[in-house]
Amino acid sequence: MAKFKSLLLCPPSFYDIRYEINPWMNTDNPIDKAKAHEQYETLKYAYDALNVTYHELSPNNHFPDQIFTTDTGHIEKNMFIKAQFKYKERRGEVTVVEEFLKTHGTYQTIELPEGIYFEGGDLIKFEDIYFFGWGKRSSKEALPFLKKHLDAEIVGIELIDDWYYHLDTCLAPINKKVALANLEAFSPVSVTEIKKYFGQIIQTSEADNKMFACNMVTIDGKAILTQGISDELKDQLRPHVDLISTVAMSEYIKGGGSVHCASLEIFD
Ligand code: ARG
Repeated sequence: MAKFKSLLLCPPSFYDIRYEINPWMNTDNPIDKAKAHEQYETLKYAYDALNVTYHELSPNNHFPDQIFTTDTGHIEKNMFIKAQFKYKERRGEVTVVEEFLKTHGTYQTIELPEGIYFEGGDLIKFEDIYFFGWGKRSSKEALPFLKKHLDAEIVGIELIDDWYYHLDTCLAPINKKVALANLEAFSPVSVTEIKKYFGQIIQTSEADNKMFACNMVTIDGKAILTQGISDELKDQLRPHVDLISTVAMSEYIKGGGSVHCASLEIFD
């Protein structure tokens, strides 16, 4: 089973709301640059405290959304499955990651067929299973290709809510028994499907969804979430994790993302 190795992050030097491709983004609500940098530093600090290894991309002025590194693809077993972004504004971000990988090992680059969309925020690896969200950004047709390359079980989940457009905005597996989910973002068939995989699903409240509660990272039983999630949710999570850290992510939320979107996981 492929194991977590490190994270790939990107400083918010050129982060801004220059276009609107999800309902959170509003070009009249620009990013407070100083605050975004502060939040990025706090995120790194949270990873430092957990001894999590991370790398940092060199940001490029052309790509204001590059901070959401998770979306650029999936990296595992020296294979980089490149994202095929739905929106042209983000397509160039993949090259920045490809260039980074060239200087950090030998990676085989995999491209999905033209016209089939795949964004990394839609693929969640959990132990030896993968969950794949389709219907908003990624295409359902990407599933057989991912399955072929990853040679694993991949559970497709249909996403139906424009606000929770990537799977990592509405699903967070915690361990073999428990997951956090905003089930209202899934089609009824997908709700039934997801319930087969977890003994308990902690259903997030509307207020916690707005704080990107599901956009969390769990590494070795330690969870990093967005600051502002409710105490009730923390209480529900506590029995299942060893530690909960929270990080202020308000500037990231303006772009429609938070902790998980900004932390691309690299697997061995
Ligand atoms: N502005 C970005 C977009 O709309 C945010 C991406 C958030 N990423 C995620 N994995 N949820 O594409």
